[in-house]
Amino acid sequence: MSELKIDNLSMRFDLPNGSSVQALKDVSLTLQSGELMSVLGPSGCGKTTLLNILAGFLAPTEGQVLLNGQKVTGPDAHRGMVFQQGALFEWMSVRDNVSFGPRMAGKAPSDYAEEVDHLLDIVGLKDFKEKAIYELSGGMQQRVALARCLANHPDVILMDEPLGALDALTREKMQSLVLKLWKETGKTIILITHSVEEALLLGERLLVMAPRPGRIHKEYRLPFADAGVGADLREVKKNPEYTQKREEILSMIWDMEEEIMGRTEAAQ
Ligand SMILES: Nc1ncnc2c1ncn2[C@@H]1O[C@H](COP(=O)(O)OP(=O)(O)OP(=O)(O)O)[C@@H](O)[C@H]1O
Ligand SMILES: [Mg+2]
Repeated sequence: MSELKIDNLSMRFDLPNGSSVQALKDVSLTLQSGELMSVLGPSGCGKTTLLNILAGFLAPTEGQVLLNGQKVTGPDAHRGMVFQQGALFEWMSVRDNVSFGPRMAGKAPSDYAEEVDHLLDIVGLKDFKEKAIYELSGGMQQRVALARCLANHPDVILMDEPLGALDALTREKMQSLVLKLWKETGKTIILITHSVEEALLLGERLLVMAPRPGRIHKEYRLPFADAGVGADLREVKKNPEYTQKREEILSMIWDMEEEIMGRTEAAQ
């Protein structure tokens, strides 16, 4: 059982001009093993900062992150990251990208080859193993990124707008794939998105963050991710509760954006 405990995190960036930005303030949260959480919020509310702290790329100014009771002090293979795009090794084949982690861990090809093949099958890239990254579409590249992350056997997968650069149709297919991987692997997943629809579909827990300072505004527990596993996501979206939650959260975020705009205009 892996438990991710986010304990009273605050993050302040001190700028060279002497001012500072309070990117996160008093964020506390616990995720149990296998939970799928989406994170939404206006631009600048600290979503990426939060993920970077969970990954161990940034040290918080206050608070701590514990994974299975162990304090996170830097990046390691327990927490895998999937970025929006551009984080693959362009010059390597699909197979070499996915096997990069096990290779770096010093494993012999006979130890990981079968699993890498299996992961590439799961993400639908069976026939593309020897291709170079630049020969793939954006959706295929994100599937490689998912497989590469899984090959490291992380307890927690952190995704920062992983589907944000894809066209609508590819994005929908990838949403189904994320749900499938979540159910099949039982991983804990945190996924940041700007899309309210995507956050509703890919979050059995949905966190809405507010800006200045970045903080948790509201949390939902939702049935749509479970309903979407192996199902037609367009059918899930027809659920009246889905529509009602979408409108509620859209209004919430609009109100935050308007408040930010109001403050910006008042400062001018
Ligand atoms: N390295 C840094 N140095 C200074 N300020 C930073 C740094 N990283 C982030 N910030 C500031 O912290 C705040 C939160 O940034 P962050 O990137 O976490 O927001 P976000 O919610 O991911 O936004 P977006 O939706 O646009 O990706 C912003 O005001 C940003 O300018
Ligand atoms: Mg961000």
